[in-house]
Amino acid sequence: MTGIIDLRSDTVTLPSPAMRQAMAAAELGDDVYGDDPTVNRLQALAAQLLGKEAGLFVASGTMGNLVALLAHAPRGAKVILGDEAHIFHYEQGGAAVVGGLVYQTLPTNPHGDLPLDRIRAAIEHHDDAHIAPPGVVCLENTHNRCGGTVLPLDYLQQVRQLTTEHNVPLHLDGARLPNAAVALGVSMQQIAAPFDSVQLDLSKGLAAPVGGVVVGSTAFIKRAHRARKLLGGGMRQAGVIAAAGIVALEQMVERLAEDHRHARLLAEGLAALPDILIDLATVQTNLVFFRLHAERWSPAAFVHALREHNILLGASSDGRLRFATHYGVTRADIDRTLHACKQVLSAQP
Ligand SMILES: Cc1ncc(COP(=O)(O)O)c(C=O)c1O
Repeated sequence: MTGIIDLRSDTVTLPSPAMRQAMAAAELGDDVYGDDPTVNRLQALAAQLLGKEAGLFVASGTMGNLVALLAHAPRGAKVILGDEAHIFHYEQGGAAVVGGLVYQTLPTNPHGDLPLDRIRAAIEHHDDAHIAPPGVVCLENTHNRCGGTVLPLDYLQQVRQLTTEHNVPLHLDGARLPNAAVALGVSMQQIAAPFDSVQLDLSKGLAAPVGGVVVGSTAFIKRAHRARKLLGGGMRQAGVIAAAGIVALEQMVERLAEDHRHARLLAEGLAALPDILIDLATVQTNLVFFRLHAERWSPAAFVHALREHNILLGASSDGRLRFATHYGVTRADIDRTLHACKQVLSAQP
């Protein structure tokens, strides 16, 4: 048996050789004074690629979402988002804890979009004294808990129209926006265009070791910058890590197509195996969610059995299992993973 194949998440990626070189050679300064040329270059590059006025380097996707929500909405206002959103499930309610914001969740359709009539209802009633005012609407693209699904461009435009009519800002949790762009064959800028703000992660499929960027108007980024300082996210010679982020944006986007091909192969292979329940229509990018026949397998037993084959995968609390393909995973690794799944499933648990 050969080495470990770690398919738990695309966050397990290690920096590329070009990233390590760029990190070693990075020009540095104190970014709290705005003096780190590498951070400034990354922020400008992100803003340019996403078609916005300005950018801000943040320590993580969670921090990126939180500074954006704090910058958009005053205390007591609503964050309107899907009930399957990462911001809602996995970010500890940060906007409520730190910013006094109220989460209003809307039902999420199977591919990650939120019903337009529900968004409209949530952002109406501006002047009703009973109701918290709308502060910001959030979408997620690709949508993690829906399986890495991609939101269609025309849907984004429809949501934009609604939020413009009601003068409510629109934020994108674009942790995996590059995957969405590659899957649709469009630029990242096209996906970002309808949004007032976007957060994009550098340390998932793009393989940088740390961080993300938030982009938006100059005035928005000024407020987000203040919020980042509040959260302790003012870093000093952060160009050491921003340097890898520049390589991520310049060199690592197009290659995501390979991860998507691998995910597809894996999903189709799994669909042919006994005891696997998988909706192939949700496998659109690099994530592969599936369930096991509940009477024969517990998710924990399957994870344990695959670990014996040196293969790691993720398990959610709702009983689903997840493979995430990423930089460093080869076609041979996919074949080996499928072979191991077949062996495990053909033995009695
Ligand atoms: C959709 C989405 N948003 C935000 C995040 C948060 O990113 P981080 O773990 O860097 O805080 C994640 C992480 O998995 C994610 O999947």
